[in-house]
Amino acid sequence: MNVLVIGSGGREHALAWVIARDDSVDRVFVAPGNAGTAYESKCTNVTIPVTDFDAQIELCRREQIDLTIVGPEDPLVSGIREHFDTAGLKCFAPSREAAQLEGSKGFAKAFMHRHGIPTAAHLTTSQLDEAVAHIEAHGSPIVVKANGLAAGKGVVVAQTNSEAIKAATLMLSGDQFGDAGREIVIEDFLEGEEASYIVMSDGESILPFASSQDHKPVFDGGRGPNTGGMGAYSPAPVVDEIVEAKILDQVIRPTIEGMAADGIPFRGFLYAGLMISKNNDVHVVEFNCRFGDPEAQPVLYRLRSSLTSLCLAAVDGQLGEHAIEFDDRAAVGVVVASGGYPEQYETGHVISGLDQIPAGVKTFHAGTRIQDDEIQTSGGRVVCVVGADSDFMHARRLAYQGVDAIRFKDQHFRTDIGYRVIERFRN
Ligand code: AMP
Ligand code: GLY
Repeated sequence: MNVLVIGSGGREHALAWVIARDDSVDRVFVAPGNAGTAYESKCTNVTIPVTDFDAQIELCRREQIDLTIVGPEDPLVSGIREHFDTAGLKCFAPSREAAQLEGSKGFAKAFMHRHGIPTAAHLTTSQLDEAVAHIEAHGSPIVVKANGLAAGKGVVVAQTNSEAIKAATLMLSGDQFGDAGREIVIEDFLEGEEASYIVMSDGESILPFASSQDHKPVFDGGRGPNTGGMGAYSPAPVVDEIVEAKILDQVIRPTIEGMAADGIPFRGFLYAGLMISKNNDVHVVEFNCRFGDPEAQPVLYRLRSSLTSLCLAAVDGQLGEHAIEFDDRAAVGVVVASGGYPEQYETGHVISGLDQIPAGVKTFHAGTRIQDDEIQTSGGRVVCVVGADSDFMHARRLAYQGVDAIRFKDQHFRTDIGYRVIERFRN
């Protein structure tokens, strides 16, 4: 069997790696891929952009590709599923309409409200005077979000009213995020610890992946601007059995059932970004209609089941007949980024040390490319190094040993990935 993975990040390297591991898989095409997927066994990169559906379909026909799995949100929100359905090709992805759970924060908030799914109280508006009145009435801290996709940068957690009003003014003007910010969501600030909970669904049945936790701010201690994620580990101890049961009962099942009841069944990876309060109350911070990045790297590293079989079953509406299994070990992934990310950064720096990574530690590439027979940086997040062990601290040490081997100009990484788990051990 041949499989196509759409995307070029660390998540897509992890997807391609875990799919290539299946005995039933002959070849994995990655469009467009990165230097990591170029060198991965059974894998071939194809220079097709993630939203060039015609070229992807042509490739599927030419190479007899049996299944396509989509990494990033852009092709999902642009309707990749409809294109593949029309062409009669199997694609594990939500429809364009279902992808609005991520593509439109206003849609997601209205959906959660309608179906009684716990989330922060909010106002959706395109009017500045209404926004200002709401901010002044509620007070800070308060959260201002661009309605549309803004590459993870459209959220301001404002500590003061004036900071919130400034963010709302800038977003609504269209200068900052264009049309994605012409409507905004203002929501109450939620306190607690965040966790990522990802499941796959065929529109009806649900299979949960192991829990995980991301680290969004760029600097140690959670300081600095938010990034796509500087590291992640799985499982997340905050998601104990009681919390997991709540997540499934209060969030995941009502979402899959609600989407089906609304006539837009959700078939794909569903990612719930959650806030878990001190009392173990669960609230949805955001939905994504795809796997997380960098969560995919430690979570898929622990997957024991065949992802290909599960995705094929989901496409055929047969997921209910399957189970999913994970390695008991903890996995920790540390992202090494380009200096300056998530703002301005340079690319084209040669990466050395990739051949010095300790045995058993896996380097998933993200912003890398092959140029003149060398591996160079080509993006903000460059690699994510994953270590795994039955002892969390040892898994973490392994990941950092891998990070220490890697060298490129201006490299930057957080030194405190997993600090919340360490704090838990201490308490
Ligand atoms: P989002 O893109 O919606 O996930 O928001 C990015 C980050 O902003 C989240 O991971 C949270 O850390 C923070 N955030 C978003 N909404 C809230 C909220 N209502 N309360 C507290 N923090 C939030
Ligand atoms: N790591 C956060 C995300 O994938 O959206």
